[in-house]
Amino acid sequence: MDDVLRIRGGKPLEGKISLPGAKNAINKLLIASLLSDQPSIFTNVPNIGEVEITVALCREIGSQVHWNRQEGVLEIVTRELNTSYVPQRFCGANRIPILMIGALLGRTDQDIIVPTVGGDRIGRRPIDFHLQALRQLGASIEYRSMKKEGAYFAQAHDGLTGALITLPFPSVGATENTILAAVRARGETVIKNAAIEPEIVDLILYLRNLGANITLDVDRTIHIQGTRKFYPVQHRVIPDRIVAASMASAAIATKGRVFVEGAEHLHLITFLNKLREVGGGFQVREEGIEFFYDGPLQGGLHLETDVHPGFMTDWQQPFVVLLTQAHGVSVVHETVYENRFGYTDALKQMGAELEIFKQCLGGKECRYASQGHNHSLIVKGATPLKGGKITIPDLRAGFAYVMAALLSQEESHIYGLPYLERGYENLIENLKGLGADIEIIAPSKVEV
Ligand code: UD1
Repeated sequence: MDDVLRIRGGKPLEGKISLPGAKNAINKLLIASLLSDQPSIFTNVPNIGEVEITVALCREIGSQVHWNRQEGVLEIVTRELNTSYVPQRFCGANRIPILMIGALLGRTDQDIIVPTVGGDRIGRRPIDFHLQALRQLGASIEYRSMKKEGAYFAQAHDGLTGALITLPFPSVGATENTILAAVRARGETVIKNAAIEPEIVDLILYLRNLGANITLDVDRTIHIQGTRKFYPVQHRVIPDRIVAASMASAAIATKGRVFVEGAEHLHLITFLNKLREVGGGFQVREEGIEFFYDGPLQGGLHLETDVHPGFMTDWQQPFVVLLTQAHGVSVVHETVYENRFGYTDALKQMGAELEIFKQCLGGKECRYASQGHNHSLIVKGATPLKGGKITIPDLRAGFAYVMAALLSQEESHIYGLPYLERGYENLIENLKGLGADIEIIAPSKVEV
């Protein structure tokens, strides 16, 4: 049985943390490096489980990787592909293998096999937009079910050709997959209604240095000029804006003060706007942003998650915990995923006053209107939270539970730590450094 996280809350978080590189950037950058036979050196690489999985995946395909975890420096080169079959054991590991389809379609005219994708259980998470776009570039892709899990069989024996692709929704993964495939395609690819998250801009900047010619228009249109000439690259991974928002929320909710070194103002604008509305304190400095409790928090807020530059869906969970400490009734409308409030059950058990609705609550109807999904939430605060015995269902919910436990005066036990380790570098050490009473214990030491 896995270890348990024991937290005795009620203490303000105080001190400083340094932001690691973004999980949602580095994994895509590693896959993008497979497009060329040139070496890439990445700095500010987070030491997290998700990167381990992606490195193992790249090694399997033929990459040579040297990763200095202490320094956060990772060098990767893929002179030749060993294989274009992604082994079944990567099935369900995370969302990254699906991007191998785009990258490998570019790199090889051989048959490609990629097992079905995994990732957090926060909705159906289909990949129809990915497949449609790659087919428009000339790929043939079919899904075959195998013994336990299925796999995608893809090939572009005659290479890919640029095309005009309009995504039905600005999906992050579909935009990335299409960009990756388009880099080595003949001619120009135009992606309309593309996602423009900072992590995608980071990918574009990397690919530009690698040799691709990519432009990003103001209206969500990305132009990619195909190329086969590549160069060695050094690239610094952008800081993790999800970790930044998570630590900021925890600092303020615990009535503390934390300087988040490396937090980028530009990547956090929508988050900071909402923080100001609720009365959370922050000061943007040259080296990062300081977050602090600035008096009682005010609810009465309407929050709608959206694609960038909207309020990020991965900020939603820590912000909801923050709202449990704000006076008044707030409304949260999740418009990116149809099923991202599952984690609130455990918060309710800890005393939070939360109610879920199937309707679109708030300003606009989203694409989940009238579909019966639990995608709106009402939060009433301020509520003291009790301790709990909680099992983490997904990465971001995991942080919300840790945060809730930090707010409770009682002891909490949190199970499912590997989820947290996938996305938060040194979380437990960092929280200890900020004064939290938190430790990993063996399951046998949990008093019942
Ligand atoms: C990425 C991030 C995740 C973040 C999300 C939205 C990574 C590894 N993960 O996930 O942390 O929450 O962006 O910012 O970077 N959809 C379809 N069909 C498709 C593709 C997507 O219907 O083919 C739907 C999804 O089910 C979801 C929505 O579109 O409801 C957004 O998904 P997408 O932007 O693709 O998210 P991911 O790339 O999976």
